[in-house]
Amino acid sequence: TQPQAYRLAVVAGDGIGPEVVAEGLKCLAAATEGTGITFETTEFDLGAKRWHATGDTLAADDLEAIKGHDVILLGAIGDPSVPSGVLERGVLLPLRFALDQYVNLRPSRLYPGEVSPLRDVDAVDFVVVREGTEGPYVGNGGALRVDTPHEIATEVSINTRHGVERVVRYAFDVASKRDRKQLTLVHKHNVLVHAGHLWRRTVEAVAPEFPDVTWDYLHIDAATIVMTTNPGKFDVIVTDNLFGDILTDQAAAISGGIGLAASGNVNPDRTYPSMFEPVHGSAPDIAGQGIADPSATVLSVGLMLDFLGYPELAARVEDAVAADAAAKDGTARTTVQVGDALAARIRG
Ligand code: NAI
Ligand code: MG
Repeated sequence: TQPQAYRLAVVAGDGIGPEVVAEGLKCLAAATEGTGITFETTEFDLGAKRWHATGDTLAADDLEAIKGHDVILLGAIGDPSVPSGVLERGVLLPLRFALDQYVNLRPSRLYPGEVSPLRDVDAVDFVVVREGTEGPYVGNGGALRVDTPHEIATEVSINTRHGVERVVRYAFDVASKRDRKQLTLVHKHNVLVHAGHLWRRTVEAVAPEFPDVTWDYLHIDAATIVMTTNPGKFDVIVTDNLFGDILTDQAAAISGGIGLAASGNVNPDRTYPSMFEPVHGSAPDIAGQGIADPSATVLSVGLMLDFLGYPELAARVEDAVAADAAAKDGTARTTVQVGDALAARIRG
């Protein structure tokens, strides 16, 4: 393979975002050292600071400039000083939508040495494929007579055959490349009959393309029970934007915590850059103290390397995090100490 030069857009963001992103970039450098693969970074100032200073969320210029990159690494966006919804609707969702990142990929693995709050937990190793551009998150709604006894609010979930089919096909493809080749559709088609049956029929229609993958179905409420009592059952889960958001927080909680949960907002067609980010937020309660765990960001860098076609480098990154988890002895470490330890393990 040819050594490659990539343009990486870096959105460090707010709170602990810049702290964990610095360690992510350190580990990216360690993983690519001596390979000839290079990343030229451009930093984008987006998030709470920018909004306070200028009132901007994501300007048209920012979006155009970001589109000129191959991939994006994002820390976290958000701060209690900004009204809820402004930055989510103004920065994060517009990026996912405008860049058509229709797969939100969230792997969960319980590494040896990590403590799960579950008793008697078997091997946890599954990946949630969450739809990223539709569902109730598209902003299709409104409010009338706000703050009166007659207030009306709507938040309409959008599910298109096109949107569902492409994410379902992606999930089948992921499942077909894994050992167990097992896909679970999670929805609530007994109550949400319109969207739910669109999802069910789409899975049924796509399944024959992947004869080696077996699939089953769980309602979202039942899925939370199984994730608590028997998470080892899952291999690949495909679900809509809202159910996936909630289920992946539970997935993080049972498999080593939010400090280890990585994600990719992936545009599989590669028409626009994909974006890799830890699942956690800006953690204002510990920001500036240098104690945030950068592991989720480092794992997100691993997902990015895999997406770019370097599975062996991605595996080195993940193995480093797994080995670090196994070697943990309870001693408190700073963000930089963890990043240094991971970079050293990646170098080997
Ligand atoms: P959060 O994930 O920032 O924090 C939840 C708890 O986990 C806090 O106690 C925090 O200290 C801890 N925590 C999070 N990441 C950690 C890490 N790497 N190491 C150690 N501890 C960690 O979620 P929260 O508090 O609900 O949200 C804070 C802000 O972040 C809000 O403004 C929210 O909107 C934003 N947010 C942004 C996201 C993004 O950029 N994609 C995702 C989630 C939240
Ligand atoms: Mg979430």
